[in-house]
Amino acid sequence: MFKRIQIIFSMILFSSLFSCDNHRWSEIKDKAFSNQVRSDFKDRLPILPKPNYNEALGRVPSANELELGRMLFNDPVLSRNNDISCATCHLTNHGFADGNALNVGAMGKGGPHGGNVGSTFAKGVLSTDRTIGDDSLGYYAESFMFRNSLSTVNTIYRIDKTKNVGLFWDGRFGDLGFQTLLPIHTKEELCGANPIALDSEGNNPFRKGGPIFKEPVKIYHTNSADAYTGRDTGKFNGQPVIIDHIPYKRPNNTISIPTRNECLAITLAKLNRIKWYRDKFKDVYKIDVIGDRHLSAALMSFISTHIADETPYDSWLKGEESLTRSQLIGMVSFFTPLGKEYQYKDLVIKGAGCFNCHDGGTFGGTQFHSLGIRSDYRSPLSRATVIQDSRTGFFNRPRLQRGLAPECHVSNVTVSSNGLAPDIGKANQSSDTEDCFKMRVPPLRNVIETFPYFHHGTERAKGHKFDHLEDQAIASLKNVIHYHLRGPINITQKNRGNVLKPYFDDLLQLDPLIPFYRLNFWGPGMRGDMKTMSYFPVNLSEENLNGLVDFVAYGLWDKEAVVEGDLGNDLSHPEEVPSGLSPSITRDEGNQLEIAPFLNH
Ligand code: HEC
Ligand code: HEC
Repeated sequence: MFKRIQIIFSMILFSSLFSCDNHRWSEIKDKAFSNQVRSDFKDRLPILPKPNYNEALGRVPSANELELGRMLFNDPVLSRNNDISCATCHLTNHGFADGNALNVGAMGKGGPHGGNVGSTFAKGVLSTDRTIGDDSLGYYAESFMFRNSLSTVNTIYRIDKTKNVGLFWDGRFGDLGFQTLLPIHTKEELCGANPIALDSEGNNPFRKGGPIFKEPVKIYHTNSADAYTGRDTGKFNGQPVIIDHIPYKRPNNTISIPTRNECLAITLAKLNRIKWYRDKFKDVYKIDVIGDRHLSAALMSFISTHIADETPYDSWLKGEESLTRSQLIGMVSFFTPLGKEYQYKDLVIKGAGCFNCHDGGTFGGTQFHSLGIRSDYRSPLSRATVIQDSRTGFFNRPRLQRGLAPECHVSNVTVSSNGLAPDIGKANQSSDTEDCFKMRVPPLRNVIETFPYFHHGTERAKGHKFDHLEDQAIASLKNVIHYHLRGPINITQKNRGNVLKPYFDDLLQLDPLIPFYRLNFWGPGMRGDMKTMSYFPVNLSEENLNGLVDFVAYGLWDKEAVVEGDLGNDLSHPEEVPSGLSPSITRDEGNQLEIAPFLNH
């Protein structure tokens, strides 16, 4: 009795001392239970191996190369309008994602800026309010991003160059070198869709020999844009091209909007005008002219050191008592199959079968499944008429031209009356109808930092008010897990065959436009048969469910992953960047122009 009072007392003391630190569940450790779990599960628990830099990059990056990568990652000079950097959407205080459901690229409004990009989750000003609209400088971002930003943490483990799959929500790329240049090419990210503006003297800033194109630029990662209209043809990785200017007008008399190649060329031309970058690139790669292959190498090296491998779970594997009793309950449930139970004394833990899909050391594995998650209809991928070209990965082909792309959207069934339809996911990449609506199984290490959840960031514990982002992330994770455990729901049946009848989903995630037969809530080796179906919904006790949330949120959280890189390198957002531009990552700061100040003379 006395002991119990003491525990309660010390817990009150504990929570009042750390009232801003959010410990939602008991911190109680149970050594006997921990030992039993260790001996019962030891052969089944995945570890994360150290990254193999030689295999992924062909070298172990030097400190110099990593510092160069860090500057490039944070420097808005990479964007055509000098307004945003990679860090706009990959921020340390959001686990290298950004906190928005769908972010906005060049010319977007809002977001954090240089001075307040904290390095600790949920500290500093949040960047969850970036949006489209007029930024009062005469610029206008029209489009949201395709999907919820992915974290760069543990990306190195997803690279599969031989098959060229694994990256992104739909796995459409496997080559990180190529991937790092894509945002520079893409109008929704760093490129922008604004027509060229003349400078104060009425000159085209991108003229031959002008302030930006002092020298011609050669690029290798090319897109065969239509020379006449400047329009994207969808074909990528064509022949190398040399760009020495961008015409103010296209032959059809419209003012130019730079093409993908031209955007990459603008970035390279600007980098070559900055002494710090010229010197650093020369130092690292022994080159005189900065090219796209070296730009991608530096960015890729930097990203590759974003590693989360020192979580309480990892320490526990090494024999430390770093997991609480609640987290251990969650871990056991995570690794126990559906329909099975684990018993310890009078504690019965029900299997949630999570490891069937979230497998391997990253807790993300390599599988793709459809949980029927709805789309955010602000995403360009939610328009049935816009579909990604399976060979190139670009989202620009009208439905009629899409050739090999599969018919995931059957009219009247998966397209709503206003022409909107769910994002088809992996079918984009594979052109296989079996893959319709499948998304990658997201890695769960540090997932608490990458709130909001699901491929369009649609799960964000809507309808509740929270003072701390961490509380919101926890509530949202609980919803995510609850959604998984509820299992597949046949809406058509519920609506008595009327597919257009509105269906109210209490977790607000299930997309009524995704047919029941496209759902797969089971991992490999489990079919959607009656037996598997009978496991759902999985009803867990409060202790069991909270344990799962606790394990996923805190047991798999490596807080240092956004502070120090795997090779001891600094990951923080620098206060100054070599271009001299403000590392501010919002136009609202007002100093971001197409012609950066440093290029004016
Ligand atoms: C406007 C927001 C935005 C900007 C700017 C941006 N990204 Fe991303 N990034 C995203 C989104 C969204 C995804 C996921 C896209 C998808 O799955 O279709 C992503 C995915 C990634 C991934 C893949 C991670 C994985 O595990 O598959 C990497 C790597 C990455 N970005 C690096 C970069 C780099 C390097 C830059 C700067 C050159 C950059 N990003 C700029 C939004 C952005
Ligand atoms: C059938 C395979 C499968 C199983 C089993 C499974 N998941 Fe998932 N999980 C997914 C897929 C696929 C997504 C992404 C869905 C989307 O965004 O469309 C996901 C998303 C998540 C997310 C959101 C991550 C993010 O970054 O948005 C969390 C958290 C999660 N799962 C935890 C769990 C837990 C805990 C369990 C066990 C109760 C579990 N999952 C079981 C396939 C699975």
